[in-house]
Amino acid sequence: MGKVVLKAELRRSWRTKVIIGCGALAELPEVLNELSPPNTLIVTDASLKHTWLPRVAALAREAGTRVKEITVGEGERVKDVETLVTLWRAMADAELTRKSVVVAVGGGAVLDVAGFAAATYMRGCRLVNIPSTLLAQADAAVGGKTGVNVAGKNTVGAFHHADAVIIDPSLLNTLPNSAFRAGLAEVIKHAVIEGEAGVRRVESRLASVLRRDPKALEEVIAGSVALKLRVVERDYVESGVRVVLNFGHTVGHALERVTNYGLSHGEAVAIGLRVESLMATNLLGFPEAEASRITSLLRRSGLPVRVPGVSAEEVVSAAHLDKKFVDGEPRLPLPRRLGDFEIVTLDWEGFGECLRNALRRCA
Ligand SMILES: NC(=O)c1ccc[n+]([C@@H]2O[C@H](COP(=O)([O-])OP(=O)(O)OC[C@H]3O[C@@H](n4cnc5c(N)ncnc54)[C@H](O)[C@@H]3O)[C@@H](O)[C@H]2O)c1
Ligand SMILES: [Zn+2]
Repeated sequence: MGKVVLKAELRRSWRTKVIIGCGALAELPEVLNELSPPNTLIVTDASLKHTWLPRVAALAREAGTRVKEITVGEGERVKDVETLVTLWRAMADAELTRKSVVVAVGGGAVLDVAGFAAATYMRGCRLVNIPSTLLAQADAAVGGKTGVNVAGKNTVGAFHHADAVIIDPSLLNTLPNSAFRAGLAEVIKHAVIEGEAGVRRVESRLASVLRRDPKALEEVIAGSVALKLRVVERDYVESGVRVVLNFGHTVGHALERVTNYGLSHGEAVAIGLRVESLMATNLLGFPEAEASRITSLLRRSGLPVRVPGVSAEEVVSAAHLDKKFVDGEPRLPLPRRLGDFEIVTLDWEGFGECLRNALRRCA
């Protein structure tokens, strides 16, 4: 019997509208009017139930869509299968269809699980993200990655872009300092990927950002989001350039594991950014002066830059579990210059040696 082989190149085009600014939350009715959903489910985190949820719900109702709300738990725990099942049931009870909108309001954890529920319910309904932590505003709310933790972080997920993202820095007013600082690690990562202009933008506004000055926050978050969107536009499913967004995360993730998550993600990434910058000075001639600028930004942000009493061997064995390594070889994006990255592949021995040197300088 002959066989028929058909080939097609199938691309999904996606449009995401991102609105950034203090007071941007007030745009929600207009955003929903443009999407004109028959009904809307707001998903939020318990910590926002009495602060931002009532306002978001009132604004959504102004758009004339039927609105239901669901509050899930709090923090990383919500990124599990139980929450997902709860959300799917709530979506069915609210009679959502593919034309309906899920409005996810919260930090990266809620956005990830609500986004995955939206990606999978009826094979995908529409999504509006309203991030409420600095990490989520500067990073997690855009880029389309959604998912939950099953026997490891982010092991089950899907790419599903939000139709709109409303980033209102005034939501950060209620955010505790430690969570706020954690977000700065990703802001600094994006600035280094962007290059000199990005690093200068953060350097000159950091003091105001730490005071949570609205204008400075808007400018720094907008810069961060614009960079991430530029990278994601070029590489939707992380087959190429998107890997640069992993800067600081090879060592960061390994440190999270070694310390049994005693370090927050932001803290681990901060140390990871410093260690990997030093690895880059060694491997690619990244200027020492630029590595010092990165360390100084992290320090000024109140983030840790020293490795907490762990050996290079422990970090190397934790790095073995990195799911981003292709064929099990260590592979990580490192800067040659600010804004100019190379994806470096090493063998385990070379990786261990370079890491040991860098860790020694951060003890
Ligand atoms: N999808 C992506 O591209 C992407 C990118 C980076 C990180 N992430 C994920 O994001 C998660 C981390 O996100 P996070 O740092 O926002 O943590 P988070 O969502 O756990 O929120 C941190 C804490 O702050 C509380 N909170 C949220 N907003 C608040 C507010 N306005 N006021 C007071 N408290 C508030 C939360 O209840 C929680 O306890 C991780 O699971 C990570 O994997 C996803
Ligand atoms: Zn991160």
